[in-house]
Amino acid sequence: MRKDFYFKKAKSQGYLARSIYKLFEVNKKYKLISPNSKVLDLGCSPGSWVQACLELNVKEIVGVDINEVKIEDKRFKFIKKDINKLDTKKLGKFDVVLSDLAPSTSGNKDLDVDRSINLSYTALKIAKKTLKPNGNFLVKVFQGSEFEELLKEIKKYFQFTKSYKPKSTRKSSKEIYIIAIKYIK
Ligand SMILES: C[S@@+](CC[C@H](N)C(=O)[O-])C[C@H]1O[C@@H](n2cnc3c(N)ncnc32)[C@H](O)[C@@H]1O
Repeated sequence: MRKDFYFKKAKSQGYLARSIYKLFEVNKKYKLISPNSKVLDLGCSPGSWVQACLELNVKEIVGVDINEVKIEDKRFKFIKKDINKLDTKKLGKFDVVLSDLAPSTSGNKDLDVDRSINLSYTALKIAKKTLKPNGNFLVKVFQGSEFEELLKEIKKYFQFTKSYKPKSTRKSSKEIYIIAIKYIK
């Protein structure tokens, strides 16, 4: 992969991935995460969003991924698991649910979009089970024909919903984020 501006910036600032700038950008604009928030981070490896949340002074962050995360902080708890096998009852309740989940790309664009949509629906299902009333949800999705349907579905459960492509996203990328604010329980 081309080592672009944000890749180099992340490396020089000691961040684990360039995606950290997407979360900082979204959070500056929409204030999803506040100091003292309790956050669930789905698809958290290698851990740059965990680094961002810790920098934003969250109270606690629980990360889930099938791949390892090497961050030691007493506010961070890591669960090495497939999100499809998560027992949400054991997770507790959160102020914010983040999902940067992405399938490993297969080379078949339609298949990748399909897998990404499925991961986003699973993230929404988990968010509905674990968010506190008025909680916030951020989810990444690869844009395709089912995107509008997903956006419509998310809109049912939040007071404010918006799609947003951060400046730090690669121009060629199909990814877009859905920002959903104030969960209506
Ligand atoms: C783009 S990366 C996340 C980057 C992360 N936000 C960061 O800033 O470091 C997407 C992650 O989703 C994870 N993932 C994909 N499918 C998953 C699944 N079914 N269960 C758990 N994690 C999954 C991948 O292992 C990968 O680490």
